Amino acid sequence: MIRWTVPAALAAGRWALSRHRRRRPRARPVDLVPWAVAGAALGVCASTLTERRRATLLRGRAVLVTGGTRGLGLRIAREFGAYGASVAVCGRDRERLDRAVAGLAGRGIRAHGIQCDVADPEQARSLVEEAAERLGGLDVVVNNAGVLRVGPRETMTTADVEEAMAVMFWGPYHVARAAWGRLSESRGSLVTITSIGGQLAAPHLLPYACAKAAQAKLSEALAAESLGSGVRVTTVVPGLMRTGSHRGVVFSGAPEREYDWFALCAGLPLLSMSAERAARRIVRATVRGHGYVVLTPAARLGMAVHGLAPGLTQRAASLAGWLLPAVPPEPEERPGTEAAVQGVPGQVVHALTALNEDAARRLNQPSRAGTAPPGDGAREP
Ligand SMILES: NC(=O)c1ccc[n+]([C@@H]2O[C@H](COP(=O)([O-])OP(=O)(O)OC[C@H]3O[C@@H](n4cnc5c(N)ncnc54)[C@H](OP(=O)(O)O)[C@@H]3O)[C@@H](O)[C@H]2O)c1
Repeated sequence: MIRWTVPAALAAGRWALSRHRRRRPRARPVDLVPWAVAGAALGVCASTLTERRRATLLRGRAVLVTGGTRGLGLRIAREFGAYGASVAVCGRDRERLDRAVAGLAGRGIRAHGIQCDVADPEQARSLVEEAAERLGGLDVVVNNAGVLRVGPRETMTTADVEEAMAVMFWGPYHVARAAWGRLSESRGSLVTITSIGGQLAAPHLLPYACAKAAQAKLSEALAAESLGSGVRVTTVVPGLMRTGSHRGVVFSGAPEREYDWFALCAGLPLLSMSAERAARRIVRATVRGHGYVVLTPAARLGMAVHGLAPGLTQRAASLAGWLLPAVPPEPEERPGTEAAVQGVPGQVVHALTALNEDAARRLNQPSRAGTAPPGDGAREP
């Protein structure tokens, strides 16, 4: 691509300059067209050069992605792999892990799967050692693994909060501690995928909000002491993303009604970002060494309003909480694969969340009972 973009940009620039010299004393909007064309060509050229530089910087690098067996983590692993990096991914489920590694290998990526529960400190520490051994070093570590339970406060137990903290705070903490020395040697990057849910506490997500807030502060605190260490720390704050994760979420209270609102929010095109775009932004931010990345316009706006008027956002969240389903007399609990609503409401939700369903199929998410097993996404563009 570079072969034609540089001459095209130069030719467009020359054309714009010659038009400018022959310009009438009073510029008309049409006189700006050559400049716009030259600017666009230069933009394409710069972006091509950046892509080439990115490929050069990542070729042969060793990347560990926790929770890289499905959803965003798998997409991040593919993105790093596409630029020539070797990747190690981890998850708890052996079958899913094998499928993810086969999918990555099918795309020509050097990939390793390590079965690991990051909630266990010993496993989290040995994950780093094993990844470094298999990859021959460690240049990037992405703390991405996460769990989500959706339901009213009354249905959340202490064990649920402890589980969220173990996976999303203590896991990244132990991984970061174990990886810091190696990243310091390689002058590498530590990337943490936090969430807008840790910045603005939304209703019916209590364990998640607590753990994500703690995880964000962990990443920021590490960044605060990173200067001179050789490690670049990147805190990522995604808004809603279409990763297909709604299928793996556990819904409690009135599971079908909880599934409805959650699947709708997570899957609406204007509100959520595709996993592909999110992964591209994360890899780009890692290569450029950006410290803080907020991924969707809605998340950016929410954080800005919360910074200026936290009382207002807290009030808005409590209003939303009041509108969400109340605890039924006999609360139930079901994973998203079984909580899908039937009948006409189900068809409406399904139609509105079609893009997220598609993402679930491409990104190795659990399949619904009675449907085909998930694809490893090897043929996905
Ligand atoms: N989707 C969104 O809209 C959104 C928005 C903001 C932030 N985020 C954050 O982005 C990250 C990825 O989200 P996602 O939507 O891709 O989630 P996802 O589809 O649920 O994937 C979670 C990944 O983490 C792994 N995992 C869960 N518990 C683990 C444990 N104890 N040890 C090791 N691996 C574990 C899962 O594999 P196993 O189940 O096989 O272990 C899976 O690979 C998460 O941190 C999430 O909180 C997501």
